[in-house]
Amino acid sequence: MKILIVGSGGREHALAWSLSRSLKVKQVYVASGNAGTQWQGGNADTFFAVGAPCQNIAVASHDIPSLINFAQDHAIDLTIVGPEVPLALGIVNDFQEANLKIFGPNEFCAQLESSKAFCKDFMTEQGIPTAPYIVVDNEAVAYRYILEHDPHLVVKANGLAAGKGVIMCDTRSASRTAVHQMLAEKAFGEAGERVILEDRLVGREISVLAFCDGKTAKPMLVARDHKRALDGDKGLNTGGMGAIAPAPDIDQSLIDDVMRRVVQPALQGMANLENPYVGVLYAGIMLTENDIQVLEFNCRLGDPETQVILPLLKTDLADILWACVQGTLDQITIEWHDLACATVVLASQGYPSDYPKGLPISGLDHTPENAIVFHAGTSQKEGIVTNGGRVLSVTAVGKTLDDALNTAYACVDGIHFEGMHYRRDIGRTTQHD
Ligand code: AMP
Ligand code: GLY
Repeated sequence: MKILIVGSGGREHALAWSLSRSLKVKQVYVASGNAGTQWQGGNADTFFAVGAPCQNIAVASHDIPSLINFAQDHAIDLTIVGPEVPLALGIVNDFQEANLKIFGPNEFCAQLESSKAFCKDFMTEQGIPTAPYIVVDNEAVAYRYILEHDPHLVVKANGLAAGKGVIMCDTRSASRTAVHQMLAEKAFGEAGERVILEDRLVGREISVLAFCDGKTAKPMLVARDHKRALDGDKGLNTGGMGAIAPAPDIDQSLIDDVMRRVVQPALQGMANLENPYVGVLYAGIMLTENDIQVLEFNCRLGDPETQVILPLLKTDLADILWACVQGTLDQITIEWHDLACATVVLASQGYPSDYPKGLPISGLDHTPENAIVFHAGTSQKEGIVTNGGRVLSVTAVGKTLDDALNTAYACVDGIHFEGMHYRRDIGRTTQHD
């Protein structure tokens, strides 16, 4: 197979690495990729060694016509979409109209992520557990709701905001300020034209991702992301500062519960709306005192969750993704390594707010066999330089979570760029403990 991966972050590097190791795959392309997603090819003879060659192509992930041209000209057998923006733009509909195979949900299904209002209404209709909420586009209505409710609210921009459009409020005045920033000052542009006000829940979080073929869903190992920028779950929400898998405090009965009460009803709901959900469904779940509550759905693999889930996957990823697009996922058994995996994100100074780019990165040459540095915001100039907020995702496997974390942090110690910041408590604190 020839594979095209759309995207340029750590998730796409992990996808490219995993697919390159498949015996079915002879070439991987990444549009547009980063400094880590190019290699000549190897024989995948150690845990993190690459297999088939991988090459970047200079096409942006939202330039759907050019991606279609590339896929046709290069006889791509399967395209895999990493980020949410092309999915929300309908890349899957357009590829299918051009008779090209693509892994991901169509534009209708992708609304689960591109509109939090759509998602909350859908969950309510399907009886999926989620916090009470209202959707508003008017400040006066929002202020009345705030006045009448418990002061612990979460204010969310309706549209896509790269994980940053969610503001946790402890006081009514903080909620009013957040609403004003979104609705009046347009801090998140169009994404904040509608706002969701939601009860603030307390509990530990998990990311439950499932492969879906429209009818059948199969869960991946449960991961835990660390979304806040600073140690101890302080600071702003980010796209994710590090992750572990499998989450050590989760048992099979909880996974079964999430599949039965969250993932299956979502799949059934979309099938009933005549838009079978194909791709990865990602449920961000909070374990409250006595139940599970869905905080969000994403319509794709998580970043950095992918960087800790794929290294533990034993089954050939190409077989799984192909089965999803063919509607034969029920015939596949998904197996996992009995190991733990951890990733630590190295971010640019200032992230998730403004940050510099173009700073040289050192220390990427010596990675032990049980670790890999997945690149995210990097580019190849004379050397490798920073090119994004989340720059690298330093990943390691081990027999235990502690082993994996120790190896990942030892690797981090050897890497440097000016202003580099990262969390020192990945896997050691759980969100909102
Ligand atoms: P979302 O993009 O909706 O998942 O929100 C991003 C992050 O904000 C989540 O991972 C949680 O840490 C936090 N969050 C979102 N909704 C809530 C809520 N209702 N209660 C508490 N925390 C929340
Ligand atoms: N790590 C959270 C996300 O991918 O949305």
